[in-house]
Amino acid sequence: MKRYFIAGNWKMHKTIPEAIELASELKERLADCKEKLMIAPPFTALYSVAQVLKGSNILLGAQNMGPEESGAHTGEISVIMLKDIGVRVVILGHSERRHTYGESDALINAKVKLALKHDLEAILCVGETLEERERGVLENVIRRQLTEGLRGVDTSMLANVTIAYEPVWAIGTGKTATPEDADAVHAFCRQVIAELYSSDMAKNIVIQYGGSVKPENTATLMAKKNIDGALVGGASLKAESFVPIAKFL
Ligand code: PGA
Repeated sequence: MKRYFIAGNWKMHKTIPEAIELASELKERLADCKEKLMIAPPFTALYSVAQVLKGSNILLGAQNMGPEESGAHTGEISVIMLKDIGVRVVILGHSERRHTYGESDALINAKVKLALKHDLEAILCVGETLEERERGVLENVIRRQLTEGLRGVDTSMLANVTIAYEPVWAIGTGKTATPEDADAVHAFCRQVIAELYSSDMAKNIVIQYGGSVKPENTATLMAKKNIDGALVGGASLKAESFVPIAKFL
């Protein structure tokens, strides 16, 4: 049976006490969940949440990291520091990083390679803006983000990569891609992975959907052949919405 990968991206929310409270509740209420689970608190709460998650089935994720191991990089967080805390997964190339902070495909690629080199799993986010979709360049954008984001990532490392398809217009807007639309883009992602790697790798790679995922739409999205999980923003901030998303079956 397919094991889904359900991940929560807390973005710039939660103080340390709030993060501890939510992580503790999730640990308890998701203890019987069979899916692969991850939560990504803000950097300041990572250490505290790591203590809470010890012995649980929820992986600790980070929302970003710097492209260097160490050095004079004011304001950056290193992969080594993340590993030191117990982070297992890092979200890279989120559309907010791409569009608000100007991260390029080349920068994201450097981060992906560095994360993999240090045995972190990487969630590589891709997705088109509304303007790109309307202009009919959705496939070009997704192909470029995948090809450039994975440049130099060899076959042996791809198993540690998850793709998250997140149409930018669906993030935090309440608008979800229809399950059919999302499935079609996921199928296109697999086609690109098949061209870059092999059809086996394309079949096996985990592709999450993200963008206004909520308890009411999770089951129909997950029922689609090419959708293997969810990257959840707003609805991951409360146990009352994240728990039913993670237990959608
Ligand atoms: P959302 O965010 O669920 O709030 O739309 C998803 C994301 O940005 O990963």
